[in-house]
Amino acid sequence: MSLPPKKLYIKTYGCQMNVYDTERMVDVMGHEGYEVTDAPDDADLVILNTCHIREKAAEKVYSDIGRLRVMKEKQAKKAEASGRESKKSILAVGGCVAQAEGAEIQRRAPTVDMVFGPQTYHRLPEMTNQANKIKKTGGRPRIVDTDLVVSEKFESLSKKAIAPKKTAFLTVQEGCDKFCTYCVVPYTRGGEFSRSFEDVMTDARKLNEAGVLEVTLLGQNVNAYHGMSRENVEWSLARLIRHLADVTDFKRIRYTTSHPHDMTDELIAIHGEVAQCMPYLHLPVQSGSDKIVKAMNRHHTIASYMKTIDSIRAVRPDIALSGDFIVGFPGETDADFQATMKLVKEVDYAQAYSFMYSERPGTPAAGWEHQVEEHVKSERLAELQEALNHQQRAFNDKSVGKVMSVLLERTGKQDTHLVGRSPYMQAVHVDVGDKATVESYFGQMVDMKIISAGPRSLKGEFAT
Ligand code: 5AD
Ligand code: SF4
Repeated sequence: MSLPPKKLYIKTYGCQMNVYDTERMVDVMGHEGYEVTDAPDDADLVILNTCHIREKAAEKVYSDIGRLRVMKEKQAKKAEASGRESKKSILAVGGCVAQAEGAEIQRRAPTVDMVFGPQTYHRLPEMTNQANKIKKTGGRPRIVDTDLVVSEKFESLSKKAIAPKKTAFLTVQEGCDKFCTYCVVPYTRGGEFSRSFEDVMTDARKLNEAGVLEVTLLGQNVNAYHGMSRENVEWSLARLIRHLADVTDFKRIRYTTSHPHDMTDELIAIHGEVAQCMPYLHLPVQSGSDKIVKAMNRHHTIASYMKTIDSIRAVRPDIALSGDFIVGFPGETDADFQATMKLVKEVDYAQAYSFMYSERPGTPAAGWEHQVEEHVKSERLAELQEALNHQQRAFNDKSVGKVMSVLLERTGKQDTHLVGRSPYMQAVHVDVGDKATVESYFGQMVDMKIISAGPRSLKGEFAT
């Protein structure tokens, strides 16, 4: 008789790199006979794939660990009352909090059995086996693996990838050497690493053969991509995108996240030349003040950012622009903040993300003088978000009446609804009327007429 499959529960925090990493962990553990469950109390292995970018995200992990501990204690009591042996599930913390805080996590939260960084999850099967063995003998596993060697992870994962849906992420680059003075990424993800051209193409072909229509090339600094080929030729991101457009059937190619410093003319040009390259660009600027971007060590000026925006709009006038902003960076005055508001007005974003500066241990800016008071940060954030929301709404409103291709990639809240993305990354909802139609259109790319717009999404109907 075969054993029932083991269950795996993973909670993902933070960025798309973590979403990609979670998918790979599911692949790796799938090969070990683990099936995904959405109920942590049912799982043999619970993984929290964490984010360390801001304090709030990191603290959330500790409160989730607390909740899981209570759940485990209740389970043990129930088992004891009914004379059964309690489930010996494993609690693992992976990702960037694990990398940054390592053994500290097990000190603060002794229920955690395993701690592993973002570059070690290909070793999950060994770690889990080891933890299971220790648990069986009544011991407490205290496994910590926070190596930062990226290439080994990719080598081992490429062999294991299992095919996904119609949209997929493909990590081409990881880590960062930019050292923005507020950011933990260079410390949690390690230095900049580009996967080789052949490795990327192997994964791309697998996705293509599995029927993926939209691929998003991922990297913390994706446009710094400079993967080498076997012939020792360096591939830029622009060349890679051109090549993917030529040799695969991907209908849509996206890439994120880009740094203004690495927005080369070659990359800008493909937005006007490669039809598969979608008219959407996430290009964080963080602040509109030269003094602040300099203090942030952003390697660009406001003028150079605006020049890049103008060049992109020249080749692709309809491009949807997105960005990231930090308000309340140390030393940010009212005038600096107003410079950010001015930049927002000038660029006119289709959407953007904005955050209050969060002091991160170990980063240069954490110890600086002139930290901005919390209430000032929240006032500035509210003002900025109001402007950004307004721009997003206006961008959505302008879509009404247009016909756009939409890749219907998931079902909506109601079972007759499908949801997809427009070329500009807007969510488009459609009520197709019945469940059979939902099934036949699921995963299809269709032309839709936009009939109404909301603050964060659009409604469409099939264009005939
Ligand atoms: N505080 C606030 N926001 C931050 N980000 C990165 N580090 C911090 C920090 N310490 C934001 C930046 C970045 C995005 C991913 O997160 O805007 O582009
Ligand atoms: Fe962090 Fe700056 Fe690197 Fe982006 S470019 S990951 S913000 S250090």
